[in-house]
Amino acid sequence: MKLARPRARSRPEPGELVSLEERVGSLSFMRAGFALAVLALGSFAPDLRGVSMGLLTLVTCVYLVPALALAPAVRTLSREPAVLASGALLLFDGLYLTWVIYATGGVESPLRFLLFVHVVAVTLIASSRTGLKVAAWNSLLLLVVLYAQAGGIIGTKETLISALPGQGEHFRLFAMLNVAALWAVALATAAFSSVNERELRAQKVDLHQLSAMVREIDARTDAADIPRILLDKLCEVFGFTRGVILASPEQDLAVLAYRGEAEAPLIVPGLDPVMERAWKDRHTQLVKDLDPGLDPRLGALFPFAGRLVIVPLFLDRGQRLGILALEPPGNADRIKRWTVTVIEQFAAHAAMAMQNAWLLDEIRHRLEENRALQRELMAENMSLEVAVDERTSELSDSLRSLRQVEDARRKLVSRLVNAQEEERLRIAGDIHDDPVQKVVAASMRLQLIRKQVQDPDVRASLDKLLESIRASIFSLRHMIFELHPSVLEHEGLAPALREHMAKLESDLELELQDDFEEQPSSETRVLLFRIAQEALGNVRKHARAKKVQVHLGQEDGGYKVEIRDDGVGFTPPQVLSSAPGHLGLSSMRERAELAGGWCKVHSLPDCGTTVEFWLPATALTSVAKIEPVEEIEPGADVHLGAAAS
Ligand SMILES: Nc1ncnc2c1ncn2[C@@H]1O[C@H](COP(=O)(O)OP(=O)(O)OP(=O)(O)O)[C@@H](O)[C@H]1O
Ligand SMILES: [Mg+2]
Repeated sequence: MKLARPRARSRPEPGELVSLEERVGSLSFMRAGFALAVLALGSFAPDLRGVSMGLLTLVTCVYLVPALALAPAVRTLSREPAVLASGALLLFDGLYLTWVIYATGGVESPLRFLLFVHVVAVTLIASSRTGLKVAAWNSLLLLVVLYAQAGGIIGTKETLISALPGQGEHFRLFAMLNVAALWAVALATAAFSSVNERELRAQKVDLHQLSAMVREIDARTDAADIPRILLDKLCEVFGFTRGVILASPEQDLAVLAYRGEAEAPLIVPGLDPVMERAWKDRHTQLVKDLDPGLDPRLGALFPFAGRLVIVPLFLDRGQRLGILALEPPGNADRIKRWTVTVIEQFAAHAAMAMQNAWLLDEIRHRLEENRALQRELMAENMSLEVAVDERTSELSDSLRSLRQVEDARRKLVSRLVNAQEEERLRIAGDIHDDPVQKVVAASMRLQLIRKQVQDPDVRASLDKLLESIRASIFSLRHMIFELHPSVLEHEGLAPALREHMAKLESDLELELQDDFEEQPSSETRVLLFRIAQEALGNVRKHARAKKVQVHLGQEDGGYKVEIRDDGVGFTPPQVLSSAPGHLGLSSMRERAELAGGWCKVHSLPDCGTTVEFWLPATALTSVAKIEPVEEIEPGADVHLGAAAS
């Protein structure tokens, strides 16, 4: 959007009442009027003109062109050339009018009045000084025409000459009378105009000062300054001797500014009748004789005052704000309407400025409150953050110590499991090396003795003895297997589990599916075997099952074993832990988790039980490696010496 450029020439310069552009415009109208009058006279009274109508029209057009062209040109010209052009046109006006007078009868021309009109119009439109200058120029030109005519330098129509009062003294007197009349009109107009001009100039100065006050008020942000500035300026400009502004943002009138001989006296709360009237009528009230009895507050504020101007102050929505009371100077017998209007308008502006400043105060106050609140919140936030930090560090400490405890527990369990395996290995080795060897040796000796004995009764007893020795050897070998199944190391998990089940000598049907693509490491294999051993032991002990299915599979980078029975089932605990005195379930879980795996039991009463567990391919804990214990087949030859040793 294009913004309209301010029209600089339409604003009057300091010291001017009317702008140059307006003046040129008004003078253009005057010139157009002159041209019309001249052409009308030329057309309707041809006897009166001494030149042809064509010449009259041509000269008039030549006159009008620059006169009318100047008005738009003034807007584009800078001030100096515009003033010069305007002055030149005034001179040109004189030349044109004088020529017209010459052409229409000279000293007797009926258009002589145009010179008078010119002087009066210029005085009124421009200024009295310009009017006088134009009067001087016009009278000079008139004299030139008249004398030229009288001296016969310029030709005059016979008819017109005959109408003249005569040549010589009469003619000169007539000419002088014309010039004197012109000057009389010019001086009278100038006198009238200068009085007006003075008045207008005074008003303009007042307005100038008051506008400066408005700028000062608008620049203030403290509401308390505004009424003081308004009161001081009004008193200064209009000469009021005392004044007061009563107002308050809360509608409870208080003295906001006072200008008098001393300090503002305290006034009782409430309103004087004249104040009520000013608010009600929404008009300024003029008090002629202040009666302190009737208006006690004003009486207290303006002791011995006669006349007062009471201006009601309103806010933008017509809300009552306060009262401005002013005491005119003692010698002023009346207050001009213009003054009252100006006071009302500037007071209204000041009232708005006060309201704005109060609003600003309130906003500032609210902002300050908000900032304080924000600060409080930030402090609160910080203390909360500190508390949260403390709590977090406490929690992380607790977590750390929990982890340490858990770590220690795992280590302990790991050590226990290791110790258990080692112990089993040792016991298995001891049983194999000593009791088994000795019992085998005893059995072999008995067999030798039996061969030498002939008595059938003794031989029968020896046979029974040999039978029970073989049973003991079988039990001992089963114990060795349970303690440390070497088949696990040599053949793998599935054969070990099959042998384990076979050795249990139960009616339980075992269905084993081995989907291992490769055998786990020996540590993982021992762990898998121990957990499966416990699960199968539970089936045998508690399930009363007919069949148990074992599936060995590989998934998720580890080994998964699933043992499903069709027994009585039970309600497994939420957390896989054994009841006091029962360790099986806990040990299964512990062993699985120790290796970084997991163990789950799914069961419901009468729905069988499924135990599944998974261990990673690389177990995280190390358990005793399986040291192969040499199995001795019953009946195998054993070196006695070796057995003895
Ligand atoms: N396959 C199963 N079928 C039925 N009940 C079972 C089965 N497995 C476990 N249980 C039930 O869970 C209980 C806890 O088993 P857990 O192995 O922890 O202890 P336990 O076998 O009784 O004793 P421990 O294993 O210490 O010698 C058992 O007493 C039994 O009631
Ligand atoms: Mg058990």
